Amino acid sequence: MSSRLAVGSSSAAPAASGGQLPAVHVLYGSQTGNAEGVAEDAAAAARSHGFAPVVSALDDVEVDALASMQRVLVVTSTYGEGEMPDNAELFWQALSAETAPRLEATDFAVLALGDTGYDGYCQAGKMIDTRLEQLGARRVTPRVDCDVDYEDAAAAWVAETLPLLAAVEGIRGESPVADVAAPDAKPARKRSQWNRKNPYVSTLAVNRRLSGDGSAKEIRHYEFALADSGLEYEAGDALGVMPVNDPQLVDALVSRLGIPADAAVTGKERPFSDLLMHSYEISTPSHEFLDEIEKRAGNDELTHVLRHGDKEALDAWLWGKDVLDLLLLAPALSMTADEFVGVLKPLQHRAYSISSSPLADPGSVHLTVASVRHTSAGRDRGGVCSTYLADRVAEGGTGGIFVSKNKSFRVPADDHAPMIMVGPGTGIAPFRAFLQERRARGAVGRNWLFFGDQHRASDYIYEDEIGAMSDSGLLTRLDLAFSRDQAEKVYVQNRMLENGKELFAWLEDGGHFYVCGDATRMAKDVDRALHHVIATHGGLSTEDASEYVNKLKKDKRYLRDVY
Ligand code: 2AM
Repeated sequence: MSSRLAVGSSSAAPAASGGQLPAVHVLYGSQTGNAEGVAEDAAAAARSHGFAPVVSALDDVEVDALASMQRVLVVTSTYGEGEMPDNAELFWQALSAETAPRLEATDFAVLALGDTGYDGYCQAGKMIDTRLEQLGARRVTPRVDCDVDYEDAAAAWVAETLPLLAAVEGIRGESPVADVAAPDAKPARKRSQWNRKNPYVSTLAVNRRLSGDGSAKEIRHYEFALADSGLEYEAGDALGVMPVNDPQLVDALVSRLGIPADAAVTGKERPFSDLLMHSYEISTPSHEFLDEIEKRAGNDELTHVLRHGDKEALDAWLWGKDVLDLLLLAPALSMTADEFVGVLKPLQHRAYSISSSPLADPGSVHLTVASVRHTSAGRDRGGVCSTYLADRVAEGGTGGIFVSKNKSFRVPADDHAPMIMVGPGTGIAPFRAFLQERRARGAVGRNWLFFGDQHRASDYIYEDEIGAMSDSGLLTRLDLAFSRDQAEKVYVQNRMLENGKELFAWLEDGGHFYVCGDATRMAKDVDRALHHVIATHGGLSTEDASEYVNKLKKDKRYLRDVY
């Protein structure tokens, strides 16, 4: 088991000839904790190169202070379609502004984490990289962009970049740590032995439908047993689940390609159909796969959208089509097992917000997941992992899991602070965990939940639990928005606006505001409603209300887990 050193200087740091060690600022923008993890690894490596590393979230850095930082490593993921992660947004606002300082004294390097499956691949890293250069900072090594399998590339980037920073430094260790403000000495933390590459094989103890029969949705509750795994998590973390593909889809692909299921694949131990089942993404077509089909077999429609369409046209055309659909569209195409596997992407884990607190149920970890299903062209299809959990892991069956830390998404450290949670649909998940956590801690702070979905009769998931939390007083306030139970649509943000005066009072009392769920519409509308409530009840202009919201973000009192 490897151990990861926390950052900051400690008495164990090697002494330098000049006394103090030169500082390296490792700044991260992280939505799910991956970039933060890389930043911590980079800091540990920096220490062994004789630097004093200081790790901070980008939003915790004043852009003006950047000018006095001589060595800066930036590790950032990209959120959504090319946006900054939540904890880099304010930093980016300041860095991209005309008022940003000149950075002639700064040497820097950027590592960008991303996902080629999305538009705006590594966009946040690209923008920061370009802007730092514009401001006069000196790039010591070209930016590296990493796809979802980022670990090896990230480690290589760290290994390559640190010696260059050390070389820039000249004689190692002789420059004083002028820009390090009292680095904190945190104790070394143990890195979990369970991760993406080595998931814990857990028994699924509970697999139960939450949403009622009449619901348009199928939301399910899962409990994975932790047994003696030593797997640790906190309320607010996500759980990575390694899916297994649908065997019917695998069979259909094997038969369409006419490749024997047990065909060997160069460099792989598992036979062909096994690889399709466990190792490759066979639902969403990769860009490589599309190019290959187009190049080798051609299909007028595909050629047209690939060659002449924009990204939007391609997405629209691809909507609902999986790898099998495309193969069926190109009947003349024939591929060997090696060729086919060569254009597929590795099967990725899916991360779900955990819906339990370890304080309430130390023996298991709970998930609340909507099964994604639809039928098209006469074939049932669905989300790779949500249907895997729903249909292919029976109670008593096993699945690979690991914890994906979400360190910024936590209940308030102050047990007295009010907590406001907006989580419609499966967005309730982390708030069930938060409420369990607060109850177990005996936290006395007030709790307010906004929940909703289409219909109360079929979609009010965890109704008994929420009712009990309300009856016991754990939930100080509960506001429900069932959108389709009346003629007019009612959403959680409408409830916020109706209760704006009290909501603002909770914020003024030091309330923490949390949002979980749909990012594209709900979270944006909730954000607008929050601005509106603050402007109206705080008597503030639009600009001042934005400042108020920025301050909440900066104080880590406005936190989102949206997808
Ligand atoms: P609707 O589908 O009836 O319009 C969970 O999906 C709930 O979120 C549903 O009640 C859904 O309502 C609602 N919803 C849809 N769009 C929304 C938005 N922009 N903001 C908040 N809730 C929304």
